[in-house]
Amino acid sequence: MPTKIEKDEITGRETTGHEWDGVRELNTPLPKWWVNLFWVTIVWAVGYMVVYPSLPWVTGWFGYWSRAELTRSLEEQRGQRAGFVARIETADLAQIRADAELLNFALAGGRQVFADNCAPCHGAGGAGAVGYPNLADDDWLWGGGLADIHATIRYGIRNADTNSRISQMPRYGVDGILKADEIGKDADHVLSLSGAVAASPSTAAGATLYAEHCVACHGGAGEGNQELGAPRLNDRIWLYGGDRASVVKSIANARAGAMPAWEERLDAATIKMLTVYVHALGGGK
Ligand code: HEC
Ligand code: HEC
Repeated sequence: MPTKIEKDEITGRETTGHEWDGVRELNTPLPKWWVNLFWVTIVWAVGYMVVYPSLPWVTGWFGYWSRAELTRSLEEQRGQRAGFVARIETADLAQIRADAELLNFALAGGRQVFADNCAPCHGAGGAGAVGYPNLADDDWLWGGGLADIHATIRYGIRNADTNSRISQMPRYGVDGILKADEIGKDADHVLSLSGAVAASPSTAAGATLYAEHCVACHGGAGEGNQELGAPRLNDRIWLYGGDRASVVKSIANARAGAMPAWEERLDAATIKMLTVYVHALGGGK
C-alpha cells in the first residue's frame, strides 16, 4: 500500500497516508483537554497510591493505613464482645431473655455455636432426624423450659457425666421380657393411641400388656414423662419412626439415644447462649 502523507483540501489537515480503494484517512489528533486529563489521572493515581497506601509496608504520608484501621476495628469489636460475654456470665437465663440487647447477642452467638457443634446431630436449625430430636417443635423429651434445656445441654443424656440425664427403657424383645407376638400387639396399641391404627382385638390385647409394662414411664394415655425422658406416644411425632416395624423395633431393642455433655467443652456463657437460642427455635416453654 503506497504511503503518501498529503494535505486534505477541505479541512486543511494532513492525512495519515493510509488509503483504501481511494478512501484516505484524516490524521485527527485527540483534543488537547482530553490528553491533559489523561496525564492528570496518571499523576493522581500515583499520588493516591502513596497517600492512601496500597503498597505493602508503605504506611502512607498522613498516617492512614488500612491494616491499622482493621486492627483497630477488630479490637473495638473484641472489647464489645467481651462486655457482652461478661454480662451473660452474670445474668441468669430469664434476665438474658428479658434484655433485648443481650438476647440479640446471645441468639447470634448461639446460632453460630449450634451450627458448629449441634447441627451435625440435630440438623440445621435443629430440624432433627431419626434418633435425633427436633428442637424446633414443642415436643420435648426432657422439658422445654429454660432450666430444662440448660441442664440437658450442660450434662447431656445417657453419658458418663455424673449429672447426665439417665433412664433406660427395658429391651423387651432382646431380653425376652415379651414374646414377638406380644410386642406386635403392644405396638398396635401404641399406634392406636394417636389414632394411627383403628381399635382391634390386637390393640385390646396390647392395651393389657401396655398397662402392665409401659404405663410407669409412658403414662396411661401415652402422654409421656419428661422426668424420665420417656417420649409422648399419643402424638404422631416419632423419634425413631412411626411405622409398625419401627415401633416394634423400639419396643424389642430399646433405643437409648445418647448426647454428650457440653459442660467440659463449652464455657458457661456459651452454654447459656445456646440455651436461649434453642429455647427460641420455636418450641421453648
Ligand atoms: C452426637 C449427637 C449429638 C450432638 C452433637 C448433640 N446432640 Fe443433643 N441430643 C442428641 C440425642 C440422641 C438426643 C436425644 C436423647 C434421648 O433420646 O433422650 C439429644 C437431645 C437434646 C435435647 C433434648 C431435647 C428434648 O426434646 O428434650 C436438647 C435440648 C439438645 N439435645 C441440645 C443439643 C445442643 C444445644 C447441642 C450442641 C451443643 C447438641 N444437642 C448436640 C444427640 C446429640
Ligand atoms: C423405664 C421407662 C420405660 C419403660 C418401662 C418403657 N419405656 Fe418406652 N421409652 C422410654 C424412653 C426413655 C424412651 C426414649 C429412648 C430414647 O430416646 O432413646 C422410650 C421410647 C419408646 C418408643 C420410641 C418412641 C419414639 O418416639 O420413637 C416407643 C415406641 C416406646 N418407648 C414404647 C414402649 C412400650 C410399648 C413400652 C412397654 C412395653 C415401653 N416403651 C416401656 C422409657 C420407657
